Amino acid sequence: MPATRFPDGFLWGCAASSYQIEGAHDADGKGPSIWDDFVSRPGAIRDGQTGNVACDHYHRWAQDLDLMRELGFRAYRFSVSWPRVQPAGTGAVNPAGLDFYERLVDGLLERGMTPVCTLYHWDLPLALEQGHGGWRRRVTAEAFADYAGHVAARLGDRVALWTTFNEMPVSAINGYKIGDHAPGAQEPERVVRQVIHHLLLAHGLGVRALRAALPSGARVGLVTNPWCCVPFFDDEDCVDAARAVFERRNAWFLDPIYRGSYPAEEWAALGPDVPTIEPGDLKTIAAPLDYLGLNIYSSAAVVGGDGSEHDYERWFPRTDNDWAVTPEVLYWALRFVHEIYGAGDLYITENGCAYPDQMGPDGAVRDYARLEYLRGYLRGVARAAAEGVPVRGYFAWSILDNFEWAHGTSKRFGIVHVNFETLARTPKASARWLRNVIAANGF
Ligand code: FCB
Repeated sequence: MPATRFPDGFLWGCAASSYQIEGAHDADGKGPSIWDDFVSRPGAIRDGQTGNVACDHYHRWAQDLDLMRELGFRAYRFSVSWPRVQPAGTGAVNPAGLDFYERLVDGLLERGMTPVCTLYHWDLPLALEQGHGGWRRRVTAEAFADYAGHVAARLGDRVALWTTFNEMPVSAINGYKIGDHAPGAQEPERVVRQVIHHLLLAHGLGVRALRAALPSGARVGLVTNPWCCVPFFDDEDCVDAARAVFERRNAWFLDPIYRGSYPAEEWAALGPDVPTIEPGDLKTIAAPLDYLGLNIYSSAAVVGGDGSEHDYERWFPRTDNDWAVTPEVLYWALRFVHEIYGAGDLYITENGCAYPDQMGPDGAVRDYARLEYLRGYLRGVARAAAEGVPVRGYFAWSILDNFEWAHGTSKRFGIVHVNFETLARTPKASARWLRNVIAANGF
């Protein structure tokens, strides 16, 4: 009997996103996305790289699905590229784009795997940004609902798990405030808050469109990346203090979803920078969900009994992209989300780490640091499950080394190594370790 065990029926999956792995940036009628545009700007991406080819998954999908099955995964979380489906963001649908995702979904089902479909993992059709102001404008939220309906109409009879958005905070903050992600804008606070409101609204309208188009058994959720902290001590005062910090830090994105309102204090503090909201918006945003997915890599802080936040990173080793290794974060985040929002079924929809993995002379990739990272983090998931937190599955980020946004291919998150010259795939030691974990449902 393994010491660390997972509940019966626990869904073990791997994850990736369209722009990061597909390549084929202009194939079969696909329109450009904001990422296709952003990567062409001098200095935007390390070494001037692009995702034009990425892992060439668009052409190698069958081989990649075989690999996932060989590694024992029961589910694959992928995203649909909106501009493949609607090249101009609105209006005409490109059937060839939907054909690709249909091949992918059928391929998963043939291999006995569960498809988990995300509709937006950051690759907005460029026409919506250039012609309509992107997420600054309400029309983009309405366009999203239309797009969601088209995908659901084609794949709804075969995909049981749907996600509207991946990590809205990153779309808004990195895309429209910091500018290190597409569309690379640096907007004032008021515009950023409006962008966030439109993303939330798009989620709500998307949920409505999905419910209308999907069979009743389909499950609709959202994937977010909560700001995370862990308590300094396991005593009740400190846990309460950490939970309060967690709640306050995540309220702007999660209160509208689960409470139908923006947090009052933060709203008041914004003064003239509050977003414009139309009647009914908050009700739309708070549409009931079937699950919440959490993407978590690291904890930002350790919280003392007095609620003070301490930078975690100064005590702990960091991965290749500087995120601290904080294994207990999954336990605390799952527990806090459950206690604060009662959010129903939870999934860890992304977790993993970047290391500069190198292939040995014998062709093996011995990523022992990743293996150890996964071991530590997964213990937290098992602990949460054992204490009754409804965590239903775990998705490793990522199945393949891929195009890690502004870092290009320099940050390797895969459990499968990709040689970006030959595009050869080689499972790393961590993949083999995970295969054993999945087979035993524990370790
Ligand atoms: C997450 C993203 C994913 C990947 C990982 C490392 O924020 O959702 O696309 O970049 O980080």
